[in-house]
Amino acid sequence: MRSKNYLFTACLMAASIFAKAQVVTIAVETQHNALVLQTDAGKNLKMVYFGAKLNDAKGYAGIAKMYKPNDDSGILDDAYTPSGSANLAEPAITVTHADGNKSLDLQYVSHAVTKVDDNVSLLTVTLKDPAYPFEVKLYYKTFFKEDVTEQWSVIKHNEKGVVTLNKFGSANLNFKADGFWLKQYHGNWASEMKPEESKLTHGIKTIDSKLGTRANLYQPSTFIISMDKPATEDEGKVLLGSLEWSGNFRLDFELSPEPSNYLRLIAGINNAAAEYHLKPNEDFVTPALVYTYSEHGTGDASRKMHRWARKYKIVDGEGSRLTLLNNWESTYFDFNETKLAQLFKDTKKLGVDMFLLDDGWFGNNHPRNGDNAGLGDWQENKLKLPNGISALVKEADANGVKFGIWIEPEMVNPASDLYKAHPDWVIKESGRPEKYFRNQLVLDLTNPKVQDFVFGVVDNLFIKNPSLAYIKWDCNAVIYNANSQYLKKDQSHLYTDYVRGLYKVLDRVRAKYPKVPLMLCSGGGGRVDYGALKYFTEYWPSDNTDPLERVFIQWEYSYFFPAIASSNHITDWGKQPLKFKIDVAMMGKMGFDIVVSKLNEQELAYAHIALKNYNGLKDVIWHGDQYRLQSPWVNDVASLMYVNDSKSKAVVFNYLVNNRYNAGAKAPIRFKGLDATKTYSVKEINLYPGTGTVLETEPKYKGDFLMNVGINPQVSAFHTSVVIQLDEVQ
Ligand code: GLA
Repeated sequence: MRSKNYLFTACLMAASIFAKAQVVTIAVETQHNALVLQTDAGKNLKMVYFGAKLNDAKGYAGIAKMYKPNDDSGILDDAYTPSGSANLAEPAITVTHADGNKSLDLQYVSHAVTKVDDNVSLLTVTLKDPAYPFEVKLYYKTFFKEDVTEQWSVIKHNEKGVVTLNKFGSANLNFKADGFWLKQYHGNWASEMKPEESKLTHGIKTIDSKLGTRANLYQPSTFIISMDKPATEDEGKVLLGSLEWSGNFRLDFELSPEPSNYLRLIAGINNAAAEYHLKPNEDFVTPALVYTYSEHGTGDASRKMHRWARKYKIVDGEGSRLTLLNNWESTYFDFNETKLAQLFKDTKKLGVDMFLLDDGWFGNNHPRNGDNAGLGDWQENKLKLPNGISALVKEADANGVKFGIWIEPEMVNPASDLYKAHPDWVIKESGRPEKYFRNQLVLDLTNPKVQDFVFGVVDNLFIKNPSLAYIKWDCNAVIYNANSQYLKKDQSHLYTDYVRGLYKVLDRVRAKYPKVPLMLCSGGGGRVDYGALKYFTEYWPSDNTDPLERVFIQWEYSYFFPAIASSNHITDWGKQPLKFKIDVAMMGKMGFDIVVSKLNEQELAYAHIALKNYNGLKDVIWHGDQYRLQSPWVNDVASLMYVNDSKSKAVVFNYLVNNRYNAGAKAPIRFKGLDATKTYSVKEINLYPGTGTVLETEPKYKGDFLMNVGINPQVSAFHTSVVIQLDEVQ
């Protein structure tokens, strides 16, 4: 364990300066890594190094001269590439000055480091255009122990009139390696997070979204770059990144010409149809790109990201979560007080903490009995709920369970009172036919009145029901016909100001209700990003809850987001037995969405056994380190493991993911993250009533045996999921 003093000194060094002649070298260091910026004779600020930290920081100053780039412009490796002057590659920023001129040059002026605390430092570098009163500040916020950096820019000018920002990147990074491999994701509703990995070739690879809301429906802004060779879980140089933005984004990966072969990454809000008119002295703050780097593969990188997310980003990331029973798939829109009273009893009988009432509880003139009416009219439906939500909260309480509720406050159905009362609050083209996504339209969150309304939906629920325990915040529609009546001539601000409006609302929600659990849902995983997770305790990975599919979906999300934030529900989707479903849902925040009364005696007993085990292990799963042991993509058996900080307790989940003849575990699976010298008891848990353990193990093993030889989990067509608990024994 390193001392506090050590950390303090190291953090102070996190951005050290070595002035030599005119050259300024700035090393942005974390525990293992360094990003080095350096000026050239023309005061251009370049990113000259990214990789393992050097023992002697003086070495950073000499790195740039080792390279002989084929770069006549001299600024190909700029830390923030402008356009319209010397740079002819993909720029980080493009502007039209107040006088119509389109050239921009950015020169280093100064930099400063603020120490936020023992672990966190903020480097600010100021760049200015020598010909125009225009500046960009680059921010690098480092989390020393976690090896994580958040990087963004702030753009400002003092010209005589409005400047148009045509492109406005958050971060511009340059990497040097013998080849780059990009792992990216694609998907759609119910098929989120499908990975693809490919070698980057010369030219530009762009990953973007233009959907407005639920921007990640087809592809998220999360990505992995391997350098020198494709990384594995435990080997290879790997950068893992994600843009903290809940709207249109754009990631450009440009491999520059021979012999430089630099990889330039430019990440930020998508500038498509989104040029921004910036008034004098106004700050344009871009969202952060968060990234971490490891020379020990994707496993190490993802654990760093998890630690950072739990400690610094997700609401209550180091705290607790509620298990729940949700009624979406058991009732859909068809419920009333009598049915719900039974469901509260079922919640108690199942033994979870809370009942979550889903869609369908609101709307009177336009009752929400299907997805074609009612959104916007957030009053209890009098036929279904004559005594209102407050009576439900009381009834749940009387049954000893908490109560949570679903809302989708950014949306409106044309069949609603809201739509009729405030047509000007709706994003649509008045001269064109309306185009709906799930029969609904998006409210214009650029308008402060709409922000008040959306905040009011949440606030009113809590004012009327102070013991309301949870909100599931949904967002199902994309933005078609992107036109705001509020923005008038600044239509191109809509995509950016929508997200800013959403964050303003969420800021207000969190100012008033700092810790109440909120689930980030977007018709499945249409909006899973750290810009939003700053306000939420958990996210909904996918509407696809088939547990076999979930093994793959959760596996991929787990590179970027920690288990504590993954809402995993057990439903009727999928053909697997209840044990398999529950075992998969345990790898995160567990919930149920089933008809409890349809469970037979053994199934209910199993749910109780698993919940008891979960309560004993959730601290390990939620707050421990995750190891992906065996991938579902290339093996019959997928295997994942969670280990607590002191390495005294661990749990290993093993699932059969192939149905072919004789598929199963043929060899031991080597565990990871244990203490080689400790002795562990090895026990199969989550045993289905009437079955015994399938493990052929001694009760005790040394950590080094478990990590070098491993345990065969005996997964087969007869035992499709096997959960193993390890406990240190003295
Ligand atoms: C979305 C969500 C579901 C459910 C429905 C309700 O599709 O992802 O979980 O809440 O909306 O309409």
